[in-house]
Amino acid sequence: MADSSTVTVRPARSVRGLVRIPGDKSISHRYAMLAAIAEGASRFHNFSAARDCYSTLGCVRALGREWKRAEDGAVEVQGRGPRLLASAEPLDCGNSGSTMRMLSGILAGQPFASEMFGDESLSRRPMARIMAPLSLMGARIEARDGGRPPLKIRGGSLKAIHYKPEVASAQVKSCVLFAGLFGDDETIVEEPIRTRDHGEIALRAFGAEVGRGGNISRIRGGQKLSAIEAHVPGDLSSAAFFLCAAALFPDSQLTLPGILVNPTRARLLDILILMGLRVSVAHLEEHHGELVGAIEARGGTWKGAVISGADTAALIDEIPVLAATAPYTKDGLEVRDAKELRVKESDRIAAVATNLRKMGAEAEERPDGLRIPGRQRLHGAELDSLGDHRIAMAFAIAALRAEGETTIHGADAAGVSYPAFFEELQRVTQ
Ligand code: S3P
Repeated sequence: MADSSTVTVRPARSVRGLVRIPGDKSISHRYAMLAAIAEGASRFHNFSAARDCYSTLGCVRALGREWKRAEDGAVEVQGRGPRLLASAEPLDCGNSGSTMRMLSGILAGQPFASEMFGDESLSRRPMARIMAPLSLMGARIEARDGGRPPLKIRGGSLKAIHYKPEVASAQVKSCVLFAGLFGDDETIVEEPIRTRDHGEIALRAFGAEVGRGGNISRIRGGQKLSAIEAHVPGDLSSAAFFLCAAALFPDSQLTLPGILVNPTRARLLDILILMGLRVSVAHLEEHHGELVGAIEARGGTWKGAVISGADTAALIDEIPVLAATAPYTKDGLEVRDAKELRVKESDRIAAVATNLRKMGAEAEERPDGLRIPGRQRLHGAELDSLGDHRIAMAFAIAALRAEGETTIHGADAAGVSYPAFFEELQRVTQ
């Protein structure tokens, strides 16, 4: 390791052991936001260690809600009902699109003006997708260049809407449902493709009634939330890096206890099984409406796949690591319908193709996807994370089967979702 942001990854022969994956990022954001507008003190065990979730907690504090880490490690958020306090300073969302998009829904219901900003990457990301519904509900929102942060939101009482987002985005759905809590009637979100449902499940956990059927979720305004004590399941999207690492070596064996296997996220496991990873899930439990299980994974053959349509939406955060390891599959990987990948923390289609080529691989970049042939041999290279956590971690996994060492610059980006990633990877690779 040269400095904290350059990491060298050496080739490995197998991946074996037990990894305790930190709490799910999507759930932690939602719990922190809803706890802030609930009545009473909420406690969250295994709250995400992600830098992104601390961006949310930072905003929560700036909006007049105290939180602390208790002696047992739980994050405690002191809620005081739906009315937050105006922040004296603009709210810093760091690298976190989730913070900015979902918190906007709550700020739209507050009788004061707020400003939100982010780092360079977040400042490039599209916000029109949340500005449109919140404006229809009656909030006044301004942004730069027709929809880039910083955002200025003047909130107030909101009109309920029936909204049909153009993009399939769980962040947009949660944003509108959170705003719906401040609406004058029932707010409905009708999605083009069903996305992860942690917003709906968390709202119910905090005591709200949320109607659901097909691609439709509905919430009545004026409902009160009550504090909860909850255990956040391990993040399946973080687990994905280790699962793909196991898939690279036939004699790998990994145990990942307490992982989120919510059906709107677990399509990943089906795809990994289709690709040849041997996976079993045991000790299934439900924690506040979220399904949790212990994942056992063993390597086998690493076959290819075509990922498209609803699968692309369901696997959107895992495509970088599937694509980075695709050259080692028998049949290659094709990813379609993935235009959204271009507006994540980096342009992930370009980032994957560029880094794979630096490792000597062939990779075809398409406007909305990638095609990566299988049975390729890669060599170690000097790569850049482009400040994107999932690119840093995806290429650490690809490096495990390359010939020679790989250096990843900007590796500290991993902390945006998984601060201990490189230490854990080193611990379980042989
Ligand atoms: C998330 C939804 C997805 C995902 C992001 C987390 C969420 O984003 O990529 O990492 O917690 O709702 P989109 O809603 O923009 O697809």
